[in-house]
Amino acid sequence: MGQLVLDKISKRYGSSSEVIKPLDLTVSDGEFVVVVGPSGCGKSTLLRMVAGLEEISEGEMRIDGVCVNDDSPSERGIGMVFQSYALYPHMTVYQNMAFALEMAKRPAKEIDDKVRASARILQLENLLDRRPKDLSGGQRQRVAIGRAIVREPSLFLFDEPLSNLDASLRVQMRMEIAALHKRINATILYVTHDQVEAMTLADRIVVLNQGHIEQVGSPLELYDRPANLFVAQFIGSPKMNLIAGALVETGERQTIVDLENRQRIALPIETLRAKVGDRVWLGIRPEHVSLIDLAKADVEGEVLFVEQMGNETLLYVNGGYGSEPLVTRLTSRQEVAPDQRLGLHLPPERCYLFDEAGLAFARL
Ligand SMILES: Nc1ncnc2c1ncn2[C@@H]1O[C@H](COP(=O)(O)OP(=O)(O)OP(=O)(O)O)[C@@H](O)[C@H]1O
Ligand SMILES: [Mg+2]
Repeated sequence: MGQLVLDKISKRYGSSSEVIKPLDLTVSDGEFVVVVGPSGCGKSTLLRMVAGLEEISEGEMRIDGVCVNDDSPSERGIGMVFQSYALYPHMTVYQNMAFALEMAKRPAKEIDDKVRASARILQLENLLDRRPKDLSGGQRQRVAIGRAIVREPSLFLFDEPLSNLDASLRVQMRMEIAALHKRINATILYVTHDQVEAMTLADRIVVLNQGHIEQVGSPLELYDRPANLFVAQFIGSPKMNLIAGALVETGERQTIVDLENRQRIALPIETLRAKVGDRVWLGIRPEHVSLIDLAKADVEGEVLFVEQMGNETLLYVNGGYGSEPLVTRLTSRQEVAPDQRLGLHLPPERCYLFDEAGLAFARL
């Protein structure tokens, strides 16, 4: 009871350009879909269109096969947690959470049970009598989640619901949302800036950029096989390293690239659609760049910064490529001094290749 179909829906405010370009997306019944993308790309607008709070300029939206373009928010029966919380200021936490159930004229006992059960999950039991203005940002955020989950709607929209929580509460709430999804098997559309939330919660991730979808896929599909440079650099943190280069040999099973440091590297990548001399980008994730003797290095350079995280070490190496340092992520502790000269190895089977327009070449 919760399949959502977006059929070429778009959004335009007044005479401005399209904030959401004609966009197709089907979220299956019970599926957890996470939307990610840079600030201002249209994530909240998209959610508000689904909720019925923003008019759909063109296209059709269907829930379980029925067009709901003209339905009011309450007719759509969707639970939404807003980025701005939108709590009722004159009501207590308890009243905020009970409100929707009271409007639906549920029995008092059921309302009380559901509010208290949600308050326990969200660690709000001691705050039920407070008003929103007397709560911290993270507490308000949890009330907003509580207000949506007590109704157990078949379709949930979450707009960055955990952004104001501290690290440990965020992990707990992440697990609660995963458990909630499992328990009531709701269809969920969830916006976040947090890579870990996106990777761990999503059945599929939608990468949105300037109002259009760059790629949709399972978290590991996007991580392992990004369709283009934008997705490659957006999914994964620290982001994928890029080195400019030019093709010196194209092929079906092997491609040879000259990097801008004049090193030559052979990659198991298919480049039949390109031609010798084409400019390309070689990409490699920080965790795949390893240290090697200077004599055997694919890239060498001085260490600019060292970040010791305790469980891993991030090294920023000036490889001589434009302004962006190459980042290496090592799980071992490394005693490395700034300015030390290091050799880096780029394992060919771990490298990605993109054409000048940013489209990925197929890896074997
Ligand atoms: N009422 C409006 N009139 C005109 N433009 C608007 C209106 N509301 C939003 N926009 C514009 O639409 C674009 C998308 O905004 P939206 O709030 O959807 O972004 P977002 O992806 O949610 O960003 P963030 O990650 O910062 O929350 C932005 O450029 C914003 O300025
Ligand atoms: Mg937003």
